[in-house]
Amino acid sequence: MQRETARELLQAKGSTRFYRHGRGVERTAFLLAKKYGIDAEKAAFAGLMHDYGKLYNEEELLRLARKHGIPVNPVMVQEPALLHAPVGAWLLEHELGLQDREMLDAVRHHTTGAAEMSMLSRIVYLADFIEPGRRFKGVKEVRELAFSRKQLEKALLTAVEMTIHNVMQKGKLLHEASIDFRNSLILSLREKELEGSHGEG
Ligand SMILES: [Fe+2]
Ligand SMILES: [Fe+2]
Repeated sequence: MQRETARELLQAKGSTRFYRHGRGVERTAFLLAKKYGIDAEKAAFAGLMHDYGKLYNEEELLRLARKHGIPVNPVMVQEPALLHAPVGAWLLEHELGLQDREMLDAVRHHTTGAAEMSMLSRIVYLADFIEPGRRFKGVKEVRELAFSRKQLEKALLTAVEMTIHNVMQKGKLLHEASIDFRNSLILSLREKELEGSHGEG
C-alpha cells in the first residue's frame, strides 16, 4: 500500500484528531529516520499507521485479540486499550497486507516499548511521544534530546519514564514490557558511558 492511499484510508475511517496525530507521527518519524540514518519511508509509513488499532474500541480489541490468537497478557486484559498496538499490527498484516516484519513490530511495540527494539521501533515510539501535536510539560526537552543533541537513547529513556509516571498517576497497571524497555536503555547508556571513560584513560 502506498503512503498516500494509507492516508486516505485513515482520513476516511478516523476522526480529525486521530488523523492529525497519525500525520504528526508520520512526519516526525520521517525526520528522525533521516537524522539517525535509517529507511525514512518505512519509518513514515509505520508512524502514519501506528494507531490503526485505535479505530476499534476496547471491547472489540479484546474480541479481535482472542479470535485471532494474539497473545493477551493479564495486564492487557485489565487495560485493553493497550491492545490497540498488537491488534493494530495484526490488522495491518492481515487486512491491509503489510508484510514488513520490522514495520509490524514497530506498530506492535509503540505503546509499551520492549526490551529488544529495532531502530525503526525506537523511532516510531519516540515520534509518537514528540510529534508536533503533543503539548505536555517536558516534551520540548525530549524533542531537543532527539533532534538538536542527537541523543536517541536519552530521549527514549525520558519518554518511557514520563510514560511510566503518567500510568502510575492515573492508577493504571504498568505493563512489564515498559520496565524491560527502561532497563535495556539504562544498561545500554551505562555501557556507553564505560566505553567513553575507558577511551579517555
Ligand atoms: Fe498508540
Ligand atoms: Fe499514537
